[in-house]
Amino acid sequence: MDTILITGGAGFIGSHVVREFVNKYPEKKILNLDALTYAGNLENLKDLEATENYEFIKADITDAQAIFDIFEKHQPIGVIHLAAESHVDRSITNPLEFVMTNVIGTVNLLNAAKHIWNGNFEGKRFHHVSTDEVYGALGDTGFFTEETSYDPHSPYSASKASSDHFVRAYHDTYGMPIVLTNCSNNYGPNHFPEKLIPLCIHNILNNKPLPIYGNGKYTRDWLYVIDHAKAIDLVFHEGTNGGSYNVGGFNEWQNIDLVKELCAQMDEKLNRTAGTSAALITYVKDRPGHDLRYAIDATKINKELGWTPSVTFEEGLSKTIDWFLENKQWLENVTSGDYQRYYSQQYK
Ligand code: NAD
Ligand code: DAU
Repeated sequence: MDTILITGGAGFIGSHVVREFVNKYPEKKILNLDALTYAGNLENLKDLEATENYEFIKADITDAQAIFDIFEKHQPIGVIHLAAESHVDRSITNPLEFVMTNVIGTVNLLNAAKHIWNGNFEGKRFHHVSTDEVYGALGDTGFFTEETSYDPHSPYSASKASSDHFVRAYHDTYGMPIVLTNCSNNYGPNHFPEKLIPLCIHNILNNKPLPIYGNGKYTRDWLYVIDHAKAIDLVFHEGTNGGSYNVGGFNEWQNIDLVKELCAQMDEKLNRTAGTSAALITYVKDRPGHDLRYAIDATKINKELGWTPSVTFEEGLSKTIDWFLENKQWLENVTSGDYQRYYSQQYK
């Protein structure tokens, strides 16, 4: 059985990618490598525990020897790399942790793959999952294309940009077969409630303030997480060697409008009087170095590989809220303990 190793598979996006691959490729073994940080949660994959072609390994990608040993033992023919520190606000408080995981961790994986593939790259692939934040910030118009120059502003995006450069360097220097995807903001089931949408869902349920940074006019391009997982599947299997693909929903929302839409849907689903949730909106201190606007031009992946988002934002948001309402225990579990400490520090 060929093995595909997926890193960060216990996280938000990774868990959807693992499920997509386990179900779609029963003839392949899917190995999920994750350190189970605060953001990793095996509850996200409970439904796959007994599945024959799925295996979980707890390991830290910053531990070069452990990563070498796992590659030696399992001999993966493909790597899909999602493990990362992923939250911009945390990167502002603790940049070094982002360098360690996102940069050093990525180089450790590249070294291990290079070592076991040993120049025999036939049928091999290293897929690096990156972000649109590497391109920096847009003004009121325009889109990021695959040719847009990198211009990261936060420690998070700087670490992701650095890792992207290393992945390309291993292609150019050693011939490593690589692909990259640079995706916009994801949302959906299992989203960790430090990020805007699940944080607001959690706070609405608990009648807590909905913190909007600055004037709320910052703009993001939102994509339903399962559409991202399907894009990764397509690019991993059919993307051009050495190439990169932007992935996005052509779905821009100013934060304040998005939160108002979320409030309206929540009021309806919770049978609350219209306006109840919106009354919780509270403007708070801005994020330092806050990027004004991200917007992805996803023409290349659409034209070359036929990928297109499957749901509208309103549908995706409705499904997402339903998932959180049906999984209140999940939300309670991930917001106990450390989360409370993080929350009171971030929003003091
Ligand atoms: P997440 O924070 O929800 O999950 C990250 C996962 O990586 C967790 O399971 C965590 O335990 C694991 N991890 C962290 N450090 C590790 C280490 N040292 N060793 C092994 N595992 C480790 O992140 P996410 O939102 O699912 O993002 C996944 C990837 O997609 C990241 O690379 C991120 O940069 C990228 N991305 C995210 C978005 C988004 O909107 N969330 C958009 C574009 C790209
Ligand atoms: O664009 C892709 C990126 O999207 C990913 O690479 C990151 O991993 C992911 O975290 C996300 O980054 P953002 O910083 O855009 O996501 P976040 O949900 O943190 O914030 C979305 C917007 O909402 C942003 O403009 C900041 C704002 N915001 C966020 C929080 C947490 C608020 O106004 N209040 C908040 O409490």
